[in-house]
Amino acid sequence: MTRDGVFEAPGRINLIGEHTDYNDGFVLPIALPHVVRITAARRDDGVLRLSSRQASGVTEIRVVDLVPGAVTGWAAYVAGVVWALREEGHPIGGFGLLVDGQVPLGAGLSSSAALESATALAVTELSGVSLDRRSLARIAQRAENEFVGMPCGIMDQSASLLARERHALLLDTRSMETEHIPFDLAPAGLTLLVVDTKAPHRLVDGEYAARRRDCHRAAELLGVPALRDWDGGLDGLGQDLPERLGRRVRHVVTENARVARVADLLRAGRIREIGPLLTESHVSLRDDYEVTVPELDVAVEALVAAGALGARMTGGGFGGCVIALVEEMAVQECTTAVLEAFAGRGFARPDCWTAVAAAGARRADHVPVV
Ligand code: GLA
Repeated sequence: MTRDGVFEAPGRINLIGEHTDYNDGFVLPIALPHVVRITAARRDDGVLRLSSRQASGVTEIRVVDLVPGAVTGWAAYVAGVVWALREEGHPIGGFGLLVDGQVPLGAGLSSSAALESATALAVTELSGVSLDRRSLARIAQRAENEFVGMPCGIMDQSASLLARERHALLLDTRSMETEHIPFDLAPAGLTLLVVDTKAPHRLVDGEYAARRRDCHRAAELLGVPALRDWDGGLDGLGQDLPERLGRRVRHVVTENARVARVADLLRAGRIREIGPLLTESHVSLRDDYEVTVPELDVAVEALVAAGALGARMTGGGFGGCVIALVEEMAVQECTTAVLEAFAGRGFARPDCWTAVAAAGARRADHVPVV
């Protein structure tokens, strides 16, 4: 067992299956080439020493003093993982951890899950604690839920830890069963265009928690363990539920069905046909789930009008990114259309780039054998 090493974990983009993970549903993310890299070294003095190339200052705390609230800001995502591991009885001691994050912050690309995942991999591997990737994802989620205080689901951490290059990760968030479905757009002449809308995130955490509460309440009223289990149809929901909750249920139920259809189409190599399902997902998130903002809606409209095969917001919503399935030849036209639409509305200039499905978290300091 070595004392130090370099570990990388990627951010993610979700192709489809939004706000389904905390309803025990299905998600279909890909990992991004953008990673958080952690250089880690075990220490014998029981102190956790955290620093970042993107932030000034150093956080130092003894691992025995870790409790929720003791560390704040970016360092809480790291310290939270060490805390969660120790809570579950794993012998994690002191560490020096230097973070270098290349996942854009606040863009809804899961820089925080990448940070947690890289930490989980680094400190377990260097401590000789052998946990499978699913367990690491669950530990990372626990850190975010209980140490940071954000009630996220399991998608982002799973994507960061389990995804494979040139594949999308179909995940059943109830059983944690996975399937790696080929997702390689270039040979088909297609591209995944990402528009980081730069929309200021407003009320994200509060609204996220409110959606979770809506879903929990709706499941209770419908008498099912989770909305994933609702198979009583969508007509007449209004009689059993307040109108708003009915719309939340409709989003979750139709979104799970869309994930299944997209997975089927990808398995069959019929990639172009997923386009309309992406756009349907956006409409559902806009009208039924109410997690979009004007920047997200304007980007989707402009992309579809400019010839994208489909487009949708990705991530939690209230800002962040839109993805579009675009013919390679149409990337320029679609990008220009978004830039013009944003300028016309007086929105900040968005960032547009193309994404490929990259590999999940890994140790990055092994010298390749020649
Ligand atoms: C955030 C959460 C995820 C998931 C998405 C919405 O990214 O961290 O768990 O709920 O929102 O799909």
